[in-house]
Amino acid sequence: PRGARRSAAGHNERVNYQELLLHAMKAARPVLDRGRPADYIPALACADPQRFGMALATVDGEVHGVGDWREPFSVQSISKLFALALALSHGGATLWQRVSREPSGNPFNSLIQLESEQGIPRNPFINAGALVVTDALLSLTGDARGAVVDFLRQESGNPAIDTDRAVAESEAGHGHRNAALAHFMASFGNLHNPVDDVLDHYFAHCSISADCRDLALAGGFLARHGLRADGSRLLSRGDAKRINAVLLTCGTYDAAGDFAYRVGLPGKSGVGGGVLAIVPGRGAVCAWSPGLDAAGNSVGALAALEDFTERSDWSVF
Ligand code: DON
Repeated sequence: PRGARRSAAGHNERVNYQELLLHAMKAARPVLDRGRPADYIPALACADPQRFGMALATVDGEVHGVGDWREPFSVQSISKLFALALALSHGGATLWQRVSREPSGNPFNSLIQLESEQGIPRNPFINAGALVVTDALLSLTGDARGAVVDFLRQESGNPAIDTDRAVAESEAGHGHRNAALAHFMASFGNLHNPVDDVLDHYFAHCSISADCRDLALAGGFLARHGLRADGSRLLSRGDAKRINAVLLTCGTYDAAGDFAYRVGLPGKSGVGGGVLAIVPGRGAVCAWSPGLDAAGNSVGALAALEDFTERSDWSVF
């Protein structure tokens, strides 16, 4: 039954998700002013760090939310998990020869390991890895941005989801590091499309606006072991397992160990302040607040997710 779980005594009891989310929001409020919005993308710098939203979607589509959960924000690196899933779903298994799956221990935009590691990025969630994934998705579909937008619209049922062109242009105008990463990998033969096309599609999928509800619903396929909202299969059970594993170890960059310790779930953050976390077999939770810590992860979203997993049985551990 909806919202029900079995207690230790074996009785079915209703879980009050709304109350759990309200408690998580209360836990996050006092720390919101400790974070700073990303300012290396000027269009994101003016976001209000006091905004907070959180939504939960169960595997069978029950949705709950609190705070600014219906307020669209820039999904940024959260788009990287959808790009990876779509590339694999289009038969991109050879992708794993072009990108590894080890935590980098370095910031998300670091260049340093690429030179000694022959242009093979450490994992698909740092910027270098996501550029390779975007290149593969572009080769497989002809439209990497469009593939991510269509998927988010279909899974969330929200046709308004789209790229925010002002954010994409702001990123492109200040995207010297991403351009450097892309050209450097191209010099090793690890990009197959023209560098400018890969960058355009990468900036455009990072600049998609969506809200906590949209993302919690769109993350459902990883909680359903590869099945989409309509019951069709996007990924094999094995690929869903592997993406969740790489999210746990690499989804929050050089803070992935701390995220696993505090939250204990596969999760992906973005510099727009969103964090999407997956609970295999149960559902997905998305929290958002624009203030970031030094690693580029939302201070408020992390505090809320930590409180949520401490107080509920939504955990993989
Ligand atoms: O390429 C960038 O820097 C941004 N489009 C995405 C970075 C990001 O979201 C890192 N996540 N915390």
